[in-house]
Amino acid sequence: MLILGIETSCDETSAAVVRDGWEVLNCVISSSQKDFTAMGGVIPEDAARKQLESILPVIELALKKANIGHNDIDSIAVTYGPGLLGSLLVGTSTARVLARIWNKPLLAVHHTLGHLSSTWLKEMKSEKRIVKNDTVSIANDEPHFPVLTLSVSGGHTDLWYRNAHTNGVLAGTTRDDAAGEAFDKGAVLLGLPYPGGPALAKLAESGDETTFDFPNPLQHEKNPDFSFSGLKTSLKYLLRDLGPKAEDQKTRVDIAASFQFAICRHLGSRITMALEMYPETKELHIVGGVSANLRLRALATDIGKRADVTVRWPSVLSYCTDNAAMIAAAAYFEQTEKTERKPAFQTQATASLQELIAATNTAA
Ligand code: KG4
Ligand code: ZN
Repeated sequence: MLILGIETSCDETSAAVVRDGWEVLNCVISSSQKDFTAMGGVIPEDAARKQLESILPVIELALKKANIGHNDIDSIAVTYGPGLLGSLLVGTSTARVLARIWNKPLLAVHHTLGHLSSTWLKEMKSEKRIVKNDTVSIANDEPHFPVLTLSVSGGHTDLWYRNAHTNGVLAGTTRDDAAGEAFDKGAVLLGLPYPGGPALAKLAESGDETTFDFPNPLQHEKNPDFSFSGLKTSLKYLLRDLGPKAEDQKTRVDIAASFQFAICRHLGSRITMALEMYPETKELHIVGGVSANLRLRALATDIGKRADVTVRWPSVLSYCTDNAAMIAAAAYFEQTEKTERKPAFQTQATASLQELIAATNTAA
């Protein structure tokens, strides 16, 4: 089954052609992110205007690079939420029109379900890396459920325990900021450019992460929820207390490394707790923008070794952050696993995946 995926939930305009939920024939991602560097964040109306200009050329390019015509695709999948409403509407309106004129079925996909599907994606010419104990091998792409997935981005931080691609329970979630938001806010405090996560990770590269001690939140809680707002406040006070010394380059890299470690350690402690709660887990996945973080990957690899579970993250960097290939993949799994699921297609800025899964399970 060949699916054309469309994703426009934030500042990106992306279209991809994916076969059977795994093989990416092509994925085009056009982002207006650099236009917002000077503003320190996305301006929703500006992002939507840029997406309106780029959506058709991006779709055309994805089809052309995949070397197929629109007659070859079986269906069109589009993100219906959550995200910026204007941006989402550009994608959903375009998808509706194309589905009508090309006479193709239209599939609505939850953005988070897209991220949860991103670890299976494989570029036609590259192989997926998985890490099992000390060996790095080529995955045979067979999913081994149950899978515990840390979905960690600028908008959400969730732990999903799934027995199938499109079914499972939300084991833990953030009570305040998302992990990516913590990276972004920390970067602002350190005077780094938007988007802050990659910039802070870069600054942290040569730092000593043991220099400054940040709190490890929610250690006495019995469920694997997250909280990041305290870490951000601690960083603010640390910078205030250090005064001019915080401007010193060596101190800056050590602060960045220690702050990054605190975020990753907190994520790691929640993963460990969830693995104890769900001992049948066969694979640990990390997905979403923050899964690009190398410190987090190293920590997840250690946890995977200790728990004897396979660890995966998206095979290429562009599948960590928002992209249309993951939307096409999720749509495929929705079709193959839940043929009865017909979510009401309404573009929604605040769509809950937990409610969607619960509603489907009740109906089934
Ligand atoms: O999944 P994504 O592209 O968009 C959302 O759905 O939010 O994630 C973007 C987030 C941003 O907060 C960004 O700073 C963070 O992912 N991020 C990183 C790294 N690359 C992206 N955070 C830490 N280290 C990175 N290397
Ligand atoms: Zn995302």
